[in-house]
Order: sequence, then structure tokens, then C-alpha cells
Amino acid sequence: MALSGAPRRIKPFISHVGDEKSDMGSVKMGMLGSGFVVSYFHLPALMEIPKAEVVAIGSRRQAPVEELARRFGVKKTYYGDRYLERLCTDPEIDTVFICLPNFLHLEATLRAAENGKNVICEKPLGRNAEEAKAMLDAVERYGVLHGYAEDQVFSPQITRVKGMIDSGALGKVFWVRTREAHFGPHSDWFWNPELSGGGSLLDMGCHSVEVARYFIGDEPVEVMGWGATLVHTAKTRAEDNSLAVVRYQGGQIGQSENSWAAHGGLDLRYEVYGSEGAAFIDTTRDTGIRVFTVAPEEKVGYVVEKAEVGRGWMYPIWREHELYGYLHELQHFVDAFSQGKMPRETYRDGYIVNKILDAAYKSMKSGRWEKI
Ligand SMILES: NC(=O)c1ccc[n+]([C@@H]2O[C@H](COP(=O)([O-])OP(=O)(O)OC[C@H]3O[C@@H](n4cnc5c(N)ncnc54)[C@H](OP(=O)(O)O)[C@@H]3O)[C@@H](O)[C@H]2O)c1
Repeated sequence: MALSGAPRRIKPFISHVGDEKSDMGSVKMGMLGSGFVVSYFHLPALMEIPKAEVVAIGSRRQAPVEELARRFGVKKTYYGDRYLERLCTDPEIDTVFICLPNFLHLEATLRAAENGKNVICEKPLGRNAEEAKAMLDAVERYGVLHGYAEDQVFSPQITRVKGMIDSGALGKVFWVRTREAHFGPHSDWFWNPELSGGGSLLDMGCHSVEVARYFIGDEPVEVMGWGATLVHTAKTRAEDNSLAVVRYQGGQIGQSENSWAAHGGLDLRYEVYGSEGAAFIDTTRDTGIRVFTVAPEEKVGYVVEKAEVGRGWMYPIWREHELYGYLHELQHFVDAFSQGKMPRETYRDGYIVNKILDAAYKSMKSGRWEKI
């Protein structure tokens, strides 16, 4: 989908896991990366999708790769200096799922695509729009299927509201507010903008901006960005707080707030205002469960992504890999790829997100609205 031209029309994605029929066999996946997103979300989700077969896991260090392979029953492992090349040339794999740090997304896409593998890439697609464009060009040049893994636009709550917007239940949507916040990432490379590409605007803003674009369903035109390092000054020179106000072709506004400095665990909130209604989603606080405890934290265990404590009042989340959108995202990619079709969220969408965020970074410096 081009940035200019006809407004984006997105069909409501209301699907139940496993409800799409396909003529072809399973999708044989090779996972690149054995870190947080693979172990907490993707592998648990893929284990619930009958047509997904995880053939191999690869990353530099042997121990985490083998531990994950054992835990999830994956037969092949690749590690050491040539793990990326070896996984991307494995003839048994048809789809490479890139879950590596952002600075490796381009190289991994090139290796996978030149070997004829379909690709799925974690967010953000590139560290900037130039990298994202090179990735988009590569998948188009090699003619492989490509998915941009923006999980939240597959979250059941978000697709439910999108369905109501598309049926006219909220009238004309004119303002969308999205918030994506926690107290900061878990691995060192995120904090180094050379490796990650940026701070909270890129890491969290890629989600919040794309959810707003999904709800609004129009062409983004210009953006006003703000960002500053307010709390983690000793740790990073990247912005740990940021705001992007995106203006769309029809005059609608997407207002996306992002923070790496907000206490209280992962905070995902969305507000949609239309001429005939409004919708509100609070994914991580309206969990339907409230617990108070003074018991030792080891008895409480995992509560929610980026929870800072396991005592006092808490809102444990149920089936996190489903609620954040991973399960439906991967079910959709597997259904599409098994039928030889492009999915709903592609590298082109990732490229558009990078373009919006590049313009927001430009605006942070210029203090003006910048064209996308
Ligand atoms: N959709 C979401 O909400 C979401 C959530 C979290 C992350 N993500 C995205 O997923 C990707 C991976 O994030 P993550 O949280 O899983 O990261 P992580 O926990 O730091 O894991 C990074 C993985 O990459 C491997 N790796 C290979 N070369 C590396 C290098 N040179 N430096 C560091 N690690 C290297 C690491 O294992 P070895 O050290 O053994 O190689 C590890 O398996 C990122 O693009 C991130 O933005 C998305």
C-alpha cells in the first residue's frame, strides 16, 4: 500500500483461532532469536496453532537456544557465529521469523529472502525508514511473502473495536489516543540508540502509532513530535518519554504517548472518539482480576509484562500472549502463508510506521509539524 494515493481501507479482522481453511500443509518456521519475545509470547502462541511447525531456533548462545528447544519440543538448534546463515539455508524451513535486536532485522531479512524464505519480522521493521525500505525492496525483489509482526492490531479487544468502527457504531472517528508505557526495556541493546534506532518513540511508538493508524484507516500526512530523556539520564541518551501527534488526510488526529519511565508495569490504553460514540480499552489494568497480597514474591510468580513488584495490589493478566495480540497475529500469518497469500500486516506497513516515526524525530528537533 502506497503512502500517497487512495486512503487505506482495512477490513475488520474478527477471527477465531483456527477458523480459516487452507489447502496446503503446515508452515515450517525457523525462529531467529531466543530472547524475551520468543520465549514469553511467540513460542507459547505457536504451540497453540496446529498448522505452525517450529522446525528450528537459532541465536548466538547455545544454552538459551537449547533450553527453549527442550521446553517447546523443537528438534533443531543453530548457534555460534554462523547461526543466522545456517538457519536461513535450512531446506526444511519455509518461513524465517526474525525476533532479533533491531540492528539485525535488515541483515536477517536479506539472508532469509535471498534464500527464498517467507519472512515475518518483529517491530519496529527498521531502525529508520531507509532500513525499512531496503527490507521492503528485498522481499519484493525475491518475491517472498512478508509479515510485519505488530501484535497489537491483532489483539482481540482492538479488532473488536475496529469492527465496531467499520460498521459505523462510532460515527466518523476524529481522534484516537493511544498510550504505551512501562519503566524501560529488559536488555542493554534497547538503551543504545545506535543498536536500537531510538528510544521510547521508536520502541513503544511503533505500536501506539500503528494502532491509531489502524483505527483511523486513512493516510498519515504530517506529524508533530516531542521527546526528552527525563528519568534514565545515566542509562541512555535516547528519549525515555515521547509524544507523536499524527494528522491524517481527512483531518483526524492520532495522539500517541510513549514512556520508558512510567512505573506500574506495562500500560496499554486506547481511546477512540467518533461523531456518534467513543470506545475505551485498558488492556493491562482492566484485566478482570484484582489481587492483594503480602506473601513472599516468589510465591506470587509472574504477574504481567514489566511488573516491578509482586506484592500489594496487582492486576494479573490471563493469557498474555493472546490478549496482546500475538496468538491471533501468528494464526493469521500462518493461515495466509499456508495459502500462499500476503497477510494483512506486511513489510509495507512497517515501512509506513518507520516513515511516520522518522518524521516525528525530525519534528522533535525542528519544533515544527513535519511531512511524512
Ligand atoms: N511485539 C512486541 O511487543 C515486542 C516485545 C518485545 C520485543 N519485541 C521486538 O522483538 C525483537 C527482539 O526483542 P527481545 O525483547 O526478544 O530481545 P532480547 O530479549 O534482548 O533477545 C534478543 C535475542 O537476540 C539474540 N541476539 C543475536 N545477536 C545478538 C546481538 N548481537 N546482541 C544482542 N542479542 C543478540 C539474543 O541471543 P544471543 O545473545 O544468544 O544471541 C536473543 O535471543 C526486537 O526487535 C524487539 O523490538 C517486540
